[in-house]
Amino acid sequence: MIVAIDGPAGAGKTTTARRLAARLGYPYLDTGALYRALALALLRQDPTLNRARASEVLTTIQLEVVWDGTQVRLWLNGEEVTEAIRAPEVSRAASLISAWPEVRARLLEEQRRIGRTWAQRYGGVVLDGRDIGTVVFPEAEVKVFLVADPHERARRRQQELAARGQRLPLEVVLREVLERDARDQERALAPLRKAEDAVELDTTALTIEEQVQRVYELVRERQ
Ligand code: C5P
Repeated sequence: MIVAIDGPAGAGKTTTARRLAARLGYPYLDTGALYRALALALLRQDPTLNRARASEVLTTIQLEVVWDGTQVRLWLNGEEVTEAIRAPEVSRAASLISAWPEVRARLLEEQRRIGRTWAQRYGGVVLDGRDIGTVVFPEAEVKVFLVADPHERARRRQQELAARGQRLPLEVVLREVLERDARDQERALAPLRKAEDAVELDTTALTIEEQVQRVYELVRERQ
């Protein structure tokens, strides 16, 4: 059983995926974390993110992804970066480099391999991202496309950042969310869009429990 959850930033994908996975006894892979890890590696090599240089560095990056029973942990060239990839400069860099075909190619097979291995080992897997239902696992048994009003998404992102000690005005967070949406939707390769057979769920007025329950019911219908 492969459950694909896609949608724009702040629509509730990761929170929903995490809780749904716990309820089903499956691991979940937040694929944004993989883009963030590559972004961190590239930023460390070159803060200006020169693309020609980045292409060379990409071939040397060793990425290790481990499900520890509760969350995904990531190692970059032997160093754990699970927390470091959450920094705002890494968010921006991940959004930029995820439009590069060489970055998407580097991660496509990796996501498929991890998804298949975990699904076999645990009976199922939940993946969240932007192109899981359209590109990575178009054959996923359950596909959900989460959306929410941009102001609500910015408010959620602001709270998330505040919980990590970063206080930013709502307008700043909203601008960043809209810029990231535009980049995700407008890129030529694997743009953010709802798969034809995905179920769209607007989470603006839903509680987290309600979101999880709706997706859980979809999974149960198909089990
Ligand atoms: O979901 P998160 O914000 O952590 O993802 C970081 C960035 O990685 C996003 O802004 C998006 O551009 C990119 N991404 C992607 N495809 C995915 C997951 C994330 O392009 N499947």
